[in-house]
Amino acid sequence: MKVDVLLGLQWGDEGKGKIVDVLTPKYDVIARFQGGPNAGHSLEFNQIKHILHSIPSGIFHQKQINLVGNGVVIDPVIFREEVDSIRKLGVSLEGKLMISRKAHLILPSHRVLDAASEASKGITKIGSTLKGIGPTYMDKTGRNGLRVGDIQEPDFQEKYRALKRKHGDLIKLYDYEYNPEEIEELWFEGIEEIRKYQIVDSEYEINGFLKQGKSILAEGAQGTMLDIDFGSYPYVTSSNTVSAAACTGLGIAPNKIGEVYGVFKAYCTRVGSGPFPSELKDDTGIYLREKGSEYGATTGRPRRCGWLDLVALKYAIMLNGVTCLFMTKADVLSGFETLKICTAYKKNKGISDQVPYDFKEINEPVYTEMKGWNQDLMRIREVSEMPAELNEYIRMIEKETGVPVTVVSTGPNREQILFTDRT
Ligand code: IMP
Repeated sequence: MKVDVLLGLQWGDEGKGKIVDVLTPKYDVIARFQGGPNAGHSLEFNQIKHILHSIPSGIFHQKQINLVGNGVVIDPVIFREEVDSIRKLGVSLEGKLMISRKAHLILPSHRVLDAASEASKGITKIGSTLKGIGPTYMDKTGRNGLRVGDIQEPDFQEKYRALKRKHGDLIKLYDYEYNPEEIEELWFEGIEEIRKYQIVDSEYEINGFLKQGKSILAEGAQGTMLDIDFGSYPYVTSSNTVSAAACTGLGIAPNKIGEVYGVFKAYCTRVGSGPFPSELKDDTGIYLREKGSEYGATTGRPRRCGWLDLVALKYAIMLNGVTCLFMTKADVLSGFETLKICTAYKKNKGISDQVPYDFKEINEPVYTEMKGWNQDLMRIREVSEMPAELNEYIRMIEKETGVPVTVVSTGPNREQILFTDRT
């Protein structure tokens, strides 16, 4: 058996949560491999809208194991809130949730450090979700971090206090006011909640599952253009978001990767600061935001909107080895007479179809125009009902990328999905 990987090809918020939820019945195990509660994976079913942050999107199904891998960072406070809200929906987590012993913990002081660092940057701030992600990964690579496995050790409290002291010294450098004790009680309650689940050596678990012939879906968070190495640095998140991170974030070898499902929106959005070549700063951008409910699932911030960027999409496909494309939010594009797709960037020295080292080199996007469609896609249930112009839009993407669009999502609900059977 192999591990299939599903990830975002743009700047996050591609609608991965819904797709994982729909695909879950085909898999025995759903595993998160990077990121943390900066993610907000939205799912809608039975008139319920639910947002997951750290727990894999397979949790609403009965039989599947949901694994939080070693590459993930966990905030116990948010974890507990998440668990409580899942339970309130009558969903049981018992026997379904495993957490890697090697996943790192986000401390309350990591969140303060995140806020202090952003505040010190002024207009150059990253636009972080302020969940403490950057400082936690810094402590991981700096070899200072606290891991889930540490909560099982007798000196856990001591280790916690030592790291908190270290953070206190750093925060003083920022001259930032805070009360570290404010959420400490909640944090330790969250630790107690984590103890209730199976804390495992997830690399052995996952390889054991493979040996037993179990099917596994690795669920990515954020998107390729936010990758710490390949995104628009420094306006990125602090983890690798590309498919290779499924190997390091779960402990699986590269030759164990099977399909790579790349999820992208039919247009583009970005939340937070940083370059976005096809951004629409006009009424069309506002229209897309309102029609697509483009507000951050984690922070509620309005998302910046723009036309589909094929240069960025092809780059993401190359980095991830995408085998199938899943297009989401096609319904939001209904009603446009003309649609634009960015196919290249105009630079000072000519035109380029590559993502540059520095986005400042880009003067403006080069667009191809396509005929739009008017049909309400949210109601259609068969591929044969798709308007001809939507088919053309998809064919253009397939021709440019060389990868088939096998799934088209036409609304937030589980039922609003079309499988095209294209190969
Ligand atoms: P951080 O990961 O919270 O530090 O945020 C760094 C950048 O990534 C900011 O621009 C965030 O808005 C963005 N970001 C982080 N997580 C997500 C996500 O799940 N979806 C979309 N953008 C995200």
